[in-house]
Amino acid sequence: MNHNQFDQKSHAWSALFSEPMSDLVKRYTASVLFDQRLWQADMTASLAHADMLCHQGIIKEQDYADIERGMGLIQAEIKSGQFEWKLDLEDVHLNIEARLTQLVGDAGKRLHTGRSRNDQVATDVRLWLRAEMDLMGGLLHDLQLALLEVAERHTDVIMPGLTHLQVAQPVSFGHHLLAYVEMFSRDAQRLSEVRSRTNHLPLGAAALAGTSYPLDRARVAITLGMVDEQGRPQVCQNSLDAVSDRDFAIEFASAASLCMVHISRMSEELILWMSQNFGFIHIADRFTTGSSIMPQKKNPDVPELARGKTGRVVGHLMGLLTLMKGQPLAYNKDNQEDKEPLFDTVDTLKDTLRIFTDMIGGQFNPATGQKEGGLTVNAINMAQAARRGYATATDLADYLVKKGLPFRDAHETVAHAVKAATALQLDLSELSLAQLQGFNAAIESDVYDCLSLRGSLEARHVLGGTAPQQVQAQIERHRRRLGVLSGCDSK
Ligand code: ARG
Repeated sequence: MNHNQFDQKSHAWSALFSEPMSDLVKRYTASVLFDQRLWQADMTASLAHADMLCHQGIIKEQDYADIERGMGLIQAEIKSGQFEWKLDLEDVHLNIEARLTQLVGDAGKRLHTGRSRNDQVATDVRLWLRAEMDLMGGLLHDLQLALLEVAERHTDVIMPGLTHLQVAQPVSFGHHLLAYVEMFSRDAQRLSEVRSRTNHLPLGAAALAGTSYPLDRARVAITLGMVDEQGRPQVCQNSLDAVSDRDFAIEFASAASLCMVHISRMSEELILWMSQNFGFIHIADRFTTGSSIMPQKKNPDVPELARGKTGRVVGHLMGLLTLMKGQPLAYNKDNQEDKEPLFDTVDTLKDTLRIFTDMIGGQFNPATGQKEGGLTVNAINMAQAARRGYATATDLADYLVKKGLPFRDAHETVAHAVKAATALQLDLSELSLAQLQGFNAAIESDVYDCLSLRGSLEARHVLGGTAPQQVQAQIERHRRRLGVLSGCDSK
């Protein structure tokens, strides 16, 4: 018998299959058109696996050397665009393995010893996502720095703080921006927590039950950097869970969704602020578009799209949750559907973070040594809007409390004052002392300090408050946290 007859497979899978797949089914079941972007992770994981097989004496040194050499050639082919991805070979894993075997012969066929595509794909996705999350951590860092720079230039620019979209109390524009820095810092924290749970090794689980080869899973984990803070290997401890768990993908999609929700809230504000009715800010023309019919228009397309893309990312989270909800253990082909939502979530979030960093902070111009083209502010319009809305009414009530009135009475007194001022179309600070004393005789001329926007702002000198000094202190805290200021440079 010619032993080669088993090598000459007439069917892509094995001799067991008696009829070929139709083209439609091939297209339906294949993932290579999208999962080829996992190639680098696939190769890294394969090399770590091969190194371990060799170290354990499961394959020979020569096999490992051949595999390494073959992978080098494949990498060059992929990078130069010469690699031929074949739909017949279904996915990234089979494509690379088949090419390896073509290039190096039997050593290529030995690579799959003690593993399955089930633990292979789970490992690849984790490795790929880990790298992407590291990138996103950097992008969130940059966005926070951009916000801090703009905040620092505007610690004492006053805008109306809103509740119910109604003018409430004056706040510093810098303070307002720092609210988003808080959100993005939590997003970064969340990503790093997801990263640590993603960074566990499924390889060695094989198809679902583990394998009879004497694998050293810890060695593979260490090679792949799947270790905890103390450098101890993090290995999935149950083979069924290892191949079927996609919690890390869902957790990531959830963290990404929340980050997009923050971006979306900011987008909504940017859109409002740049509308003619607010006129608070200006964003650079490169983030806006005109209208094909209305020549006067400049539309905030970028923030609008970011708000819209938030729906898409949240949709991916729902898709992944739904993908998992009915699956029995262990691996099911359903899981191939985790990739496109995951890829699109990563792409959308990365692009969005980059664009927002540029839109808020501007771009560095080496000629001037300055950042240019970021968000600009119309402080006059902001202050006017704060005045129009009686933003310092609470300050007048607080003033009366200091004069001995119970707060509830002070609240009522000021309501009368606002009603009268509204009828006169005046701000509280524009009422004469005699007029003000008409509401309460205890009012003296020092009342005007507290009726000014600045006085109101400065009065909120409490930790986390909007007084410019507090805002500056927060900026410094954030800078220290982000590693931009050394501890001794700052208080
Ligand atoms: N392309 C597959 C995926 O993305 C790889 C795993 C296939 N495993 C299997 N037993 N068919 O999930």
